[in-house]
Amino acid sequence: MRATAQAQPNIALIKYWGKRDAARNLPAVSSLSLTLDSLWTRMSVQFDATLGADQLEVNGEPATGMLTRVSRCLDRVAGSSRDFATVRSDCNFPIAAGLASSASSFAALVVAASEAAGKSPDTLALARLAGAASGSAARSLYPGIVLLTAGSDDIVVQSIADDWPLELVVAVTEESAKPVSSGEAMTRSAESSPFYATWVARQDEDIRSALDAVSRRDFLALAAVSEHNCLKMHSVMWASRPPIVYWNHATLTCMQTVRRLQSDGLPVFFTIDAGPQLKAVCLPEAAPAVASALSETPGVGRILRSGLGAGARRLQET
Ligand code: DP6
Repeated sequence: MRATAQAQPNIALIKYWGKRDAARNLPAVSSLSLTLDSLWTRMSVQFDATLGADQLEVNGEPATGMLTRVSRCLDRVAGSSRDFATVRSDCNFPIAAGLASSASSFAALVVAASEAAGKSPDTLALARLAGAASGSAARSLYPGIVLLTAGSDDIVVQSIADDWPLELVVAVTEESAKPVSSGEAMTRSAESSPFYATWVARQDEDIRSALDAVSRRDFLALAAVSEHNCLKMHSVMWASRPPIVYWNHATLTCMQTVRRLQSDGLPVFFTIDAGPQLKAVCLPEAAPAVASALSETPGVGRILRSGLGAGARRLQET
């Protein structure tokens, strides 16, 4: 009745932004991401017939903010007549600051909860359960470079490559939680941004370019489409009413650092999610120079580095 699982966050190069069906949390667009290896969330779930309510602890502290989403996710995994559960989460990176902590949390949660409930759904079924809680979480069930296809009925997720040694350097410019959740920001974008319909209509074009770049291991082509897709997503947000601007001064300064490294000939590009951190993707030989340039960029508090890693999996209890 108790199980622990680990998942790593994933960073989208072609972004999920917008929901086709908010009740089922189905994405309006397909997306392509990198599953990381050195950042992680570990979740343990124990169903217990003696409990009167679900309990959630994050990094050793009671956490009520996420409890409703966690309880709903447990209902979907184990059925609504399940016992209440104690859920413990440990995370080795900042939470809710645009570093995809919800992706690694819900991916680890569905694996741990299904094991604790004695169920063994296949990986796609687990991805769909994770995606119902947080769209990006579906991708953290899979290793390496991951494609999530929005589909007409439900999502389909697959790993398309796990042998291209891309590296990620995260420039953390702000540790605190973001002011507007990505779910709320997506709704506002869909309801008010004049660019939203075009964003949705053009997404498959970017997915095709990115898949083509990955299949040819063409870093510069992947860089071009990824930066374009990221800036397009933020343009949708900036044009929403009221506007959604996740960047801070240091985010822009980091973009200038990446531009400088690119003009020096380094294989690196940036992407930015629903938060002010800049994520630089590079080839392994460039990672030390990218990390050092970003760490010296004014406003950067710390640097996190990761290669690409495995999908969510159960951990043996210690
Ligand atoms: C900008 O998966 O956090 O990181 O489904 O509402 O939980 P919900 O949204 P979430 O959104 C992630 C948005 C993004 C882009 C991406 O990861 O593709």
